[in-house]
Amino acid sequence: MTKVVLSSDHAAIDLRRAVADHIEAQGYEVEDIGPQTPESTHYPKHGHAAAEAVASGRADLGIILCGTGQGIMMAANKVKGIRCGVCSDTFSAAMIRQHNNANMLSLGARVVGEGLALSIVDAFLGAEFEGGRHATRVDMIEG
Ligand code: RB5
Repeated sequence: MTKVVLSSDHAAIDLRRAVADHIEAQGYEVEDIGPQTPESTHYPKHGHAAAEAVASGRADLGIILCGTGQGIMMAANKVKGIRCGVCSDTFSAAMIRQHNNANMLSLGARVVGEGLALSIVDAFLGAEFEGGRHATRVDMIEG
């Protein structure tokens, strides 16, 4: 079973819970590492925590969220082995898996509504890395 780790900052708690419920209903194993309370917090620590879960192999994939999706994505991508993209459309969400072998998706709760966010999640989880010439390029990302 594919295990997905979720985290967010305070700006995206409701959307994170909606994503958790949505993918749990599809049979994914979910580890929601919070936060669970609405106090203002710092997105880098939540991005790092989810990224560490993926990089260590504790989770297969990660979905992280903040107001724009940008800050928490930047933090996650500092962890070695993480390839995370922010998506506001379903085409990009599929392509970051198919061509970039992304292991994390970032969403902006102040950018996309819940319906679109869940479609983006479906596109991300439903796509597979195509390998081949894309593998050569993905290998080059690490430098
Ligand atoms: C919090 O106000 C906001 O800065 C954060 O959620 C995120 O959008 C940062 O990239």
